[in-house]
Amino acid sequence: MQHIIIITGAGKGIGKAIALDFAKASQTYHDFEPLLILVSRTLSDLEAVAEECRACGAVADIILADIADTEQIDQLVSTTLERYGTIDCLVNNAGVGRFKPFTELTVDDYEYTMATNLKGTFFLTQKVFPVMEKKRSGHIFFITSIAAERAFKSSSLYSMSKFGQKGFIEAIRLYAKSCNVRITNVMPGAVYTPMWGEVSAEMKAVMMMPEDISTPLVHAYLLPQRTSVEELVIRPVCGDINE
Ligand SMILES: NC(=O)c1ccc[n+]([C@@H]2O[C@H](COP(=O)([O-])OP(=O)(O)OC[C@H]3O[C@@H](n4cnc5c(N)ncnc54)[C@H](OP(=O)(O)O)[C@@H]3O)[C@@H](O)[C@H]2O)c1
Repeated sequence: MQHIIIITGAGKGIGKAIALDFAKASQTYHDFEPLLILVSRTLSDLEAVAEECRACGAVADIILADIADTEQIDQLVSTTLERYGTIDCLVNNAGVGRFKPFTELTVDDYEYTMATNLKGTFFLTQKVFPVMEKKRSGHIFFITSIAAERAFKSSSLYSMSKFGQKGFIEAIRLYAKSCNVRITNVMPGAVYTPMWGEVSAEMKAVMMMPEDISTPLVHAYLLPQRTSVEELVIRPVCGDINE
């Protein structure tokens, strides 16, 4: 059976690993045929990921979009529906962070963070949800963070945005339950991805890898429709970094 799956931020890091794990699952589960719609702002990244997904036997399409721009969100959803007629899964993974002491953060840092993490996530979900509500099935994942539940000193804006995402998730779950739509909040601790820039070898050694997040996410999707994994909290075994 074909599954139309939109993954935002699919060009790098955790989003890329999610795309590849969905593609690989099609080799294990023969009735699972993922059609992956890979979204980000960088075409070359998406082309490379699409190529890897196709090599695993999945169908992969690319839509270039900045989710901070609501017109581009509208375009992303209408293009998907024109091409494929429905949406079975949305992975709200695209996110940004600017990590500095609270006193050094600027208006630009604020607007940049909130435009993607809050506004983009909210309006993309709002646009996709009615498609799932109407057919009474679907699954929406949110990659928030452990920073959606606890604060770190250099993460004031990032935490604000992630706490905000968690509030939104808890509200949308109230709608989703009544129409059979599954909502999963994925809260990872530190994962070694381009978001971190340069990291020391010592730090890398205690961080998780993107596939540590993507593997349980794909398993949650493949569980029977009657089952909803509401939260996945995944930390490095030694605990949070900068604890
Ligand atoms: N890495 C961690 O330790 C960690 C821990 C907990 C949670 N998370 C969360 O996990 C998610 C993925 O993080 P990551 O570490 O994989 O980040 P990453 O390596 O920086 O990758 C982020 C991806 O999102 C895309 N993106 C960013 N802003 C976008 C926008 N406005 N519109 C469309 N695409 C956008 C980026 O591509 P372009 O820049 O090309 O658009 C990129 O493909 C984020 O929500 C992050 O907050 C990460």
